[in-house]
Amino acid sequence: MSSIESETVALSEMERLTAHLRTQIEQTKRGEGLEFEEDEEYVKLQTENTKLKHRLAILNKAIAAEQNAHGSTAVIKYQPVKLPSTVNEMISITEHLVDLFTNAIALAFPNLAGTQAIISPVNATAAKFGDYQCNSAMSLAKTLKAAGVNKSPRDIANEIVKNVAPSPLVAKTEVAGAGFINVFLKKDYAVHAIENILRNGVKPPACRKQRVLVDFSSPNIAKQMHVGHLRSTIIGESICRLLEFLGHDVLRINHLGDWGTQFGMLIAHLEDRFPNFLNESPPIGDLQAFYKESKKRFDEDEEFKKRAYNCVVLLQSGDANSTKAWTQICDVSRQEFQKIYERLDVTLKPVGESFYQSRMIEVVKFLASKNLLEEDDGRKIMWADETSSGIPLTIVKSDGGFTYDTSDMAAIRYRLEEEKAEWLIYVVDSGQSTHLQNIYRAAERAGIFNPKIHRADHVNFGVVLGEDGKKFKTRSGETVKLSDLLDEGLKRALDKLLEKERDKVLTPEELKAAQESVAYGCIKYADLSHNRTNEYVFSFDKMLEDRGNTAVYLLYAFTRICSISRNCGEDFSDLVKILDNRTKIELEHEKEWKLAKTLLKFPDVLVKISKDLLLHTLCEFCYEVATVFSEFYDNCYCIEKNKSGEIVKVNRGRILLCEATAAILKQCFFILGLKPVSKI
Ligand code: ARG
Repeated sequence: MSSIESETVALSEMERLTAHLRTQIEQTKRGEGLEFEEDEEYVKLQTENTKLKHRLAILNKAIAAEQNAHGSTAVIKYQPVKLPSTVNEMISITEHLVDLFTNAIALAFPNLAGTQAIISPVNATAAKFGDYQCNSAMSLAKTLKAAGVNKSPRDIANEIVKNVAPSPLVAKTEVAGAGFINVFLKKDYAVHAIENILRNGVKPPACRKQRVLVDFSSPNIAKQMHVGHLRSTIIGESICRLLEFLGHDVLRINHLGDWGTQFGMLIAHLEDRFPNFLNESPPIGDLQAFYKESKKRFDEDEEFKKRAYNCVVLLQSGDANSTKAWTQICDVSRQEFQKIYERLDVTLKPVGESFYQSRMIEVVKFLASKNLLEEDDGRKIMWADETSSGIPLTIVKSDGGFTYDTSDMAAIRYRLEEEKAEWLIYVVDSGQSTHLQNIYRAAERAGIFNPKIHRADHVNFGVVLGEDGKKFKTRSGETVKLSDLLDEGLKRALDKLLEKERDKVLTPEELKAAQESVAYGCIKYADLSHNRTNEYVFSFDKMLEDRGNTAVYLLYAFTRICSISRNCGEDFSDLVKILDNRTKIELEHEKEWKLAKTLLKFPDVLVKISKDLLLHTLCEFCYEVATVFSEFYDNCYCIEKNKSGEIVKVNRGRILLCEATAAILKQCFFILGLKPVSKI
């Protein structure tokens, strides 16, 4: 057979397969009962789906082979439609639709296979345009036009719609306007998904599990932990909680600044002030003042300066007495930090810069062996970029000492090679952006970091401002002590509760729990609810408001939602039993349906955050849930009472919807570090 002949055979075989596949899709479409009352039905559809997937993959390969044979440059990336099991996972609707429409595009326009569908949720107030929209037709029209094919976006949209495989999530699709595809969700699916939340708890969306190292908080020993570190602590903790919920293996690392030349003067000063330090732990008390004193001596007294240098050398060579002094100084600091972490419910493993002393020596040798170090005025430097542009890293100082660059190079190597982390997250202020970019690039150049298998993110954040719009400081212009700040939060929260006369309703224990929940909750939420890349104004007045997107509003809303089932006169403690007793969630009322759809966006939100690590979207989601819930509650009776206040009817299905709302909010609160209390 000539090559043309064999190609013709292959093409007709392909056509046959395509036709077969279309019939199969049609059959599935018609044959679907798709009620999804039973998980069995899901399993069946999944199997069906797997088969279809397999066929499609074969078909796509055939097309790709054909196109290669014809010298086409189109690369076919086939994205199978995934339907996760609904018991252990919640489906991210957006992800599912992206898959579904990416396939439809590939089927309708084989030359454009691999083009990812653009899906966006439709604002609930515009429900007539569906619940989600696929907006790919316009950009596809442009691509086709560039390739010499003239087709209107509307025609393209129609072609796509014809090729959308049946999905248990989708009730119907519709082409509208210039070529938008409106997607309407299926109520049956929503009911099934909400019941699943009630039966099995709130589950994460499916994702590839990775070993992630989060470097956060990371204050410096003997220096004040400032509001910048507070931001890193709050954001880092939430990122860890989110990733842990998604099922990743998370290492929470406190990269303490516990090494370097400043320890020389601290040790020398300790020897003078507390000569007995070897036998009893020195009552340093105010480490801040201690630091200032030693710094003053260091700057003014040449003798002292010499001794300080000598102490550094001794410490770095492992001398026992200097090490003891160093440990004592670090302990004082760490205890202070720990108090803050406990108050904020933050967990961290300290692996400070000192941990890398031996690895810094190693990494210098390693970089030298790769000819990456250059002499510069007695220093050893390394360019992150082969073109020697930008700022070089200082790997060894002219006095032989190491720098912040050296410890970060040693740390990135340790994290990837020894800890086997696949994903590194640095939660550090925006000011260190260049430094961190330099570290990843240098590590890549040295063959330590491989962007094909590793991911590194700088979760940067802006500075904290005072209400005057200037850098956050005390009245006298000093850095604010974090413990003082938390104390003030507690005081303000109590004032707020007393103003609302909550002391008359709550027991002293309940009042204290509410006070702590509000105080720490509002500080964390104020930080997390702003886009972290911006600076933000720290204002107790604003964060303690009980209206708008604040922790106080959400905590109240949550408590109110929880109280509905408590006050309905029936036992709602066993939700599974209630569902087994044929209580149905109806979603008949427009506001019920809206609430259900809002709740089911939860996995979408998490998927998005795992990409951009912007937590304010989760805060916005909480606020949306709370406001959509009040719309529902204002319009739909859950409990009907007669004139004398007796309960005459309980709408159990709606109470189940309240319970699902509470469950989703509770999971969000956990990620955001908010501690709900039963009474507030
Ligand atoms: N200790 C540093 C500071 O206070 C932050 C360390 C961040 N982590 C890192 N691997 N460089 O600015």
